[in-house]
Amino acid sequence: MSLPKNFLWGASTSAYQVEGAYNEDGKGLSVQDVKTPFPGTPNFNVCSDHYHHYKEDVKLFSELGLKAYRFSIAWTRILPDGDGEVNPKGVEFYSNLIDECLKYGIEPIVTMYHFDLPYELDKVGGWTNPRTMDAFVKFAKILFENYGSRVKYWLTINEQNMMILYGPVIGTTKPGQEGLLYQSNHYMLLAQAKVFKLCHEMVPNAKIGPAPNISVNYPHTSKPEDNLATLYVNAVRNWLYLDIAVWGKYNPVAMDYITKKGFKIDITEEDMQILREGKPDFIAFNYYNTATIEAYSEKEAATQGDQQIALGDPGFFKGVANEFLPFTDFGWQIDPLGFRTTLMEIYSRYHLPLLITENGLGAYDKVEEDGSINDDYRIEYLKQHITELKRAVETGVDVMGYCPWSAIDLISTHQGFLKRYGFIYVNRDNEDLKDLKRLKKKSFFWYNNLIKENAESL
Ligand code: BG6
Repeated sequence: MSLPKNFLWGASTSAYQVEGAYNEDGKGLSVQDVKTPFPGTPNFNVCSDHYHHYKEDVKLFSELGLKAYRFSIAWTRILPDGDGEVNPKGVEFYSNLIDECLKYGIEPIVTMYHFDLPYELDKVGGWTNPRTMDAFVKFAKILFENYGSRVKYWLTINEQNMMILYGPVIGTTKPGQEGLLYQSNHYMLLAQAKVFKLCHEMVPNAKIGPAPNISVNYPHTSKPEDNLATLYVNAVRNWLYLDIAVWGKYNPVAMDYITKKGFKIDITEEDMQILREGKPDFIAFNYYNTATIEAYSEKEAATQGDQQIALGDPGFFKGVANEFLPFTDFGWQIDPLGFRTTLMEIYSRYHLPLLITENGLGAYDKVEEDGSINDDYRIEYLKQHITELKRAVETGVDVMGYCPWSAIDLISTHQGFLKRYGFIYVNRDNEDLKDLKRLKKKSFFWYNNLIKENAESL
C-alpha cells in the first residue's frame, strides 16, 4: 500500500517554544513570557533563537526533505496587545518565513494560536472574557489578509482540549478562573467557528481545521464501570471538541460531565447557529499516546497529570498505567497501535481528511565526541508510528500528511531543553545558551530517506 505522491511529509514547531526574541521588533508579551517556568527549566526569552536563525533553519528543513513545515504565529508579534495596533515588523517576519519555505518548495502549515495568549488579554480575563473571542477573529483576519494568497493550510487552535484539561500545567489557566473553564471553552469554540467561516469567505482556496490532541483510550478491565469511565474520558477529552468543530453540536456525554461538575455555560441559540455555520475542511490532531482508564469513586482524592498522563476526576475516571505498553524516559507510554486505532476511530466518526500535526519522542540526546547524535530510539518510535499510519491508510483512512514533533529542538513545556524532540539538535541546555549551533541527528538522515522513498520500505 503506497501513500499518495503529494503526502505532506512535514515537521512541527510552535512560536513560543522555538523563536525566542520575546521582546524584539515590537513583540508584546504573552502568557508564556510572563509565567514562572518549572524549577530547573529556562524561560522562553531565547529558546532555539529561530527568530534570528530562520533562514538557516528553513535551509536545514529543505535538506531534511520536508514537504511541509507546521509552525505557529505568535499573536503578540502581529498584535502586541492582542487586539490593538498591528505591528508591521511582526507581519514582516512571518511573511519572510513563509517566503523562505516556499522558496524551497516547503508548504507552510500555519497554526494561529499555540498556547501563547497575549498577556494584555489575559489581564482582562483571557478566554473568560468574550473580548478575547473577538480579538482572535480580528487576528485571524489580519493573517488571511497578509498570508492568505501563500498559505493553503491553516490550523486554528493548538490543543484546545489540553488547555482546558491541563491549563495550570501548560500555563494557560489562572487560579480563580476554574469555575469559568467551560465558558472559556465555549468562547474558544465560537471563535474557532467564526474563523472557519471567515477563512472560507476570504481565502476560498485555503483549507482550515482544528488541532486538538486526540487519543482513543482503553478501559483498564472489562468491568462495565471501567468501560463507562472510558466513555466519559473519550467524550470529555476528544469528542466534545470534534463534534462541535465538525457538526456544531455539543457531545451529550461531555455535557453531562460538565453539568455534573457544576460548570456553568451560557449558550444561546445564536451561538449554536455560529457553531453550525463554521465548518472545517480537515481534522488535524496531535497524538503522543493513549490513556488507560478505571472508574473512580467520589471518595478518592483527585490525581494530577500532564497532557499525556491521564488525570483523575473523582466520580468519573482515573488514569492508570497500561501494563502492556513501555514508557518513555519521561513517563509517557508508547502506543503505536493506539495511533492506528485513533486514526480509524476519528475517520469513522467524521469522514474528513486527517492531518497529524504532532507525534514524537521526547528523550535525552547525547552529542558524541565526533558531533554525531545517535537517536535510534527516536527512529524506532517514528518507524512504528508511521507503520501504523500506513496500516490505517490501508483500511481506507484518508490521511493528508504527517508532521512529527519537532522539526528542530525547542523548549519542552515541562522539561525545557532536557527533553528533546527534534531532528536537528540545538547546542544549548537549560542553564547555558552556548553557541546555539545546529547539528543533524541520526534521525535527520533516516527521515530524509523515508521521505524520499515515500515510506515504501515500511
Ligand atoms: C503538545 C504541545 O501537547 O506536546 C507541544 O502541543 C508540546 O507544545 C508537546 O511541546 C510535547 O510536550 P512536552 O511537555 O514534552 O513539551
